[in-house]
Amino acid sequence: MAATPADLSTNTDGHLPVLPAAVLDGWCGRLDGTYVDCTYGRGGHSRGLLDRLSAAARLYAIDRDPQAVAEARALAEQDRRVTAMDGNFAELLPTFDEASCAGVLMDLGVSSPQLDQGERGFSFQTDGPLDMRMDPRRGQSAADWLANASEAEIADALYHYGEENASRRIAKLIVAQRASAPLLRTLELADLVASVVPRRGRTHPATKTFQALRIVVNDELGALESGLQSALRVLEQGGRLAVISFHSLEDRVVKRFMAARAKAPAVDRRLPPSSEEFVPELRLLGKYEADQAELAANARARSARLRVAERLR
Ligand SMILES: C[S@@+](CC[C@H](N)C(=O)[O-])C[C@H]1O[C@@H](n2cnc3c(N)ncnc32)[C@H](O)[C@@H]1O
Repeated sequence: MAATPADLSTNTDGHLPVLPAAVLDGWCGRLDGTYVDCTYGRGGHSRGLLDRLSAAARLYAIDRDPQAVAEARALAEQDRRVTAMDGNFAELLPTFDEASCAGVLMDLGVSSPQLDQGERGFSFQTDGPLDMRMDPRRGQSAADWLANASEAEIADALYHYGEENASRRIAKLIVAQRASAPLLRTLELADLVASVVPRRGRTHPATKTFQALRIVVNDELGALESGLQSALRVLEQGGRLAVISFHSLEDRVVKRFMAARAKAPAVDRRLPPSSEEFVPELRLLGKYEADQAELAANARARSARLRVAERLR
């Protein structure tokens, strides 16, 4: 028997799922279908979905963060509909059969526990090692990347992935600083950036720099681009793709991906009309943002954008 909602772990480590109602309405189609949560985190969205699904449904819960995977495994032990998967969704989605899933969810970026635990290195407010890897078992930490990248590479990353106007000044300072001692701590970097970037209102001066480094260290945009392609391949006809992004770079990728597959190709008016009506791959179901009540309860929801599309063929 599938566990009832009351049996399920409610450990969210302070992570509130964003746009919970719109996500469930968008992601959930067939009640006995196979679903993929590409970004399990603390499972807020997954648990909501399981409450709706029938006993015959399946949920694959993916995360690249070992702590999140441990949470997903704990849920899988309580609910036989759930399978936990450890890794990057960009590598795991291609292992699913084509047209096998009723819904795929991506809730991009980092979770509250990742941000709150100083030792993970994502926070410019709590001191910790300059790590920022969602999966600390693989790849270069932010400290390693900053130690080896050229000044131009650092400036380009801050500009393109952080949309930081002071990218050249910050990169110059980082390179000057690392010549005397390696940059190893989050607050060291945050203070360095604050010495050249003025505070903008309540936003910390290092916000954009930390965003850029996180994106580079985790190849977040690369994972998103290939993950979207694979998600479309694994969706069945009528299946739903729901993606939550937290900054304009991500949202642009999602918007363009969905829009390009939701429109008919340009018609050459000199040719006779085709007898078959063109059916696009996707139908756009909507774009959602948090309302005032959610914003009051969850500051992370401020920049969240949910886009939902349905596979038509
Ligand atoms: C915003 S949180 C998800 C929160 C989740 N929806 C919830 O309700 O608890 C994002 C999670 O996605 C994971 N993640 C981000 N990019 C990933 C990727 N490419 N592959 C696998 N997991 C990823 C992060 O490790 C993090 O745990």
